[in-house]
Amino acid sequence: MVREIEFILNGFNQTLSVKPSEKLIDVLRDRLGVTSVKYGCGKGECGACTINLDGKTVRSCLMYAVEIDGRTIETIEGFPRLGKREIQDIYIKHNAFQCGFCAPGFILSTEELLNMISDPSEEEIKEALAGNLCRCTGYKNILEAVAEMVDIRKREKAL
Ligand code: FES
Ligand code: FES
Repeated sequence: MVREIEFILNGFNQTLSVKPSEKLIDVLRDRLGVTSVKYGCGKGECGACTINLDGKTVRSCLMYAVEIDGRTIETIEGFPRLGKREIQDIYIKHNAFQCGFCAPGFILSTEELLNMISDPSEEEIKEALAGNLCRCTGYKNILEAVAEMVDIRKREKAL
């Protein structure tokens, strides 16, 4: 049976009819054009399908669309509008991705980490990003980008 759900996507109200069996990742990509959400493993292991749901990162390949009724989703498509471009810009500055497939997930996980811990250690950064896999970069540039983001936040806090 089709069900109507309402939710907020990147600051916009959305109403959608979904079947109970529809995966969230498919609804985001195929029906709403949110293509930053990538289909990697489909099993919750690679982080390519990461979204921010009510302030926490989740794997959209593991959720059904009906589960987002009444909730708030952010993806990197919404970052410019939501005033969150800075992390993307630092990733670009450090060439922290090559094919870019993993980048949206890494950026969302970085944002979540910095919201939780303002001055994370290298170990805490690695732990926070451990659920996101990259087959291109070797992670070095990603870690450098996050380290610069941490420095920027520290300087902003000190002002
Ligand atoms: S596609 Fe969802 S975690 Fe890999
Ligand atoms: S840049 Fe290609 S998978 Fe990470």
